[in-house]
Amino acid sequence: MVNDTLPAIAILGAGSMGGAILQGLVRSGTAPAVTVTNRSTAKADALRGLAGVTSLSLETDPTANSTAAAGADIVLVGVKPAMVPDLLREIAPALRPGTIVVSLAAGVTIATFEAIVGEGIPVLRSMPNTPAVVGKAVTGLSAGGGASAADAALVRRLFETCGAVIELPEAEIDALSTISGSGPAYVFLLIEELTEAARGKGFSDADARLMAEQTFIGAAALLAATGEDPAVLRRRVTSPKGTTERAIAVLQGAHLAGIFAEATDAALARAREMAAGA
Ligand SMILES: NC(=O)c1ccc[n+]([C@@H]2O[C@H](COP(=O)([O-])OP(=O)(O)OC[C@H]3O[C@@H](n4cnc5c(N)ncnc54)[C@H](OP(=O)(O)O)[C@@H]3O)[C@@H](O)[C@H]2O)c1
Repeated sequence: MVNDTLPAIAILGAGSMGGAILQGLVRSGTAPAVTVTNRSTAKADALRGLAGVTSLSLETDPTANSTAAAGADIVLVGVKPAMVPDLLREIAPALRPGTIVVSLAAGVTIATFEAIVGEGIPVLRSMPNTPAVVGKAVTGLSAGGGASAADAALVRRLFETCGAVIELPEAEIDALSTISGSGPAYVFLLIEELTEAARGKGFSDADARLMAEQTFIGAAALLAATGEDPAVLRRRVTSPKGTTERAIAVLQGAHLAGIFAEATDAALARAREMAAGA
């Protein structure tokens, strides 16, 4: 257990994503020293009282980011992408050589980070997703040239407190984001549509939600528990000449596979537009 202990961590901007990572860290019991910052005191107050967490607000202490960064071995940057350069300029003088800086920000390159924090500061870029809140994230992780294998292993361990981690080159992180970063939204859309189909069959809102939502939750749990290929599990529900077979034929006839390729391509095109400043 002692060997699992993570060094001092700062999360600058502990909103939806930074806060989700914080929950994973606290739940894991492996992060005894985490300092988080937010702009508003109300947000900072809400995170106070978590085991091992010091929560600071810029409203109360305008130097909170530099204070948190100076005391940390790993600094997670969780503010909105447009705010990242200003935040990095603010904390750069406070970083000790060897402090690892990890981006949570979509679309901000490792090169942008490195140019501001300077030499001697290893940088990694991550793309987590919101199931981090319940310890079921998929996090893509790319290491910059200044980060060692040991730095990457340490940051991997940090994100593993929130779920699974995939290490990949930075050039592939936008593609990963179109699958797992945006993916929870695709799943929620499918749940909404199945709920709507249930309402269309005359079920009450409550029953429609229960049957659609619990079916997704149950199917995902079955997938996780059995470790089977989803296609195998699907075939088990699909008896030859049965009712499910008819429904699946309609879904496949609507070119679901092509639609997912098209949707994720559209997300990737948007990531490229955003990287170009559009
Ligand atoms: N949400 C996702 O699904 C997701 C997935 C992957 C990556 N990300 C990335 O995560 C980052 C944050 O997104 P989010 O959805 O978590 O946004 P968010 O909920 O708005 O969180 C940002 C937090 O930063 C705080 N903040 C603002 N300015 C600050 C400053 N100067 N110093 C310290 N804290 C400051 C805000 O506090 P106040 O509210 O008090 O101003 C807020 O709590 C983005 O870069 C995004 O690309 C998000």
